[in-house]
Amino acid sequence: MRLARDAAEAGSRFKDSILSVMSHELRTPLTVIRGEAEVTLRGKEKPISEYRTTLERIVQLSNQLNKLVGDILFLARSESGTLQINLKPTSLSVILDEVCQETNILARSRSMSATREEASHDAIVQGDPERLKQLFMILTDNAIKYGRPGGRIVMRLENTNEAARVTITDDGLGIPEADLPHVFKRAYRVWRGRPSAVGGAGLGLPIAKWIAEAHHGTISIASALDRGTTVTVECPLSGSQTSRADR
Ligand SMILES: Nc1ncnc2c1ncn2[C@@H]1O[C@H](COP(=O)(O)OP(=O)(O)OP(=O)(O)O)[C@@H](O)[C@H]1O
Ligand SMILES: [Mg+2]
Repeated sequence: MRLARDAAEAGSRFKDSILSVMSHELRTPLTVIRGEAEVTLRGKEKPISEYRTTLERIVQLSNQLNKLVGDILFLARSESGTLQINLKPTSLSVILDEVCQETNILARSRSMSATREEASHDAIVQGDPERLKQLFMILTDNAIKYGRPGGRIVMRLENTNEAARVTITDDGLGIPEADLPHVFKRAYRVWRGRPSAVGGAGLGLPIAKWIAEAHHGTISIASALDRGTTVTVECPLSGSQTSRADR
């Protein structure tokens, strides 16, 4: 009896597990990679340009798969409690400068641009610089993917009484009201009004939420369909800064 119950619980844990949710997303690019390689190798020799096209596609799919495996491992580790974060005094200004620079490079392909606004002098938080950068890059990746060609992304930093507040705003597709409460759930994607070619697995925002909460912070999203989206991240300021907020 207990054995059966244990097995049922293990089964239900597997059903809920990130691996089971993602097995389709993992298999699809692998199947396409194998298919493209097999078709190209089959039959007579082909012009070199055909091999090049296939290799380019294989590299693109491998990159996509690599990102997906990295994201799945991140969430699996976050669930098992084995993800390390190393908190130390960290300047959000420095991190946002790096994120803005890299975002501008990535945004070029869609003729988009990112700018920084700083309402406070700087914000020092107890943070893990690598993870915080990952968090903001997830948000600007979305702003680019779901932005409009030529659109603008604004990254704003300000200090409230006890927290540093970062907002990332785009003027893109926005999110339907009915979807908004669900976007932090893993594997949740919005389909309405999005070009089917825009890839993703719905793991970015759940990872962003985990990182914000690991910093004792919060993340929230506000959006208007066809107008744009603002994501707000708040993190407690490091001790000595709280009295200097909003100078
Ligand atoms: N800035 C935004 N503008 C419009 N829609 C957004 C924005 N950010 C997120 N979304 C919507 O929320 C959904 C969930 O976002 P999330 O980042 O978790 O996943 P994804 O971008 O689909 O895939 P992944 O991040 O794993 O590559 C997206 O599918 C998208 O439709
Ligand atoms: Mg995303």
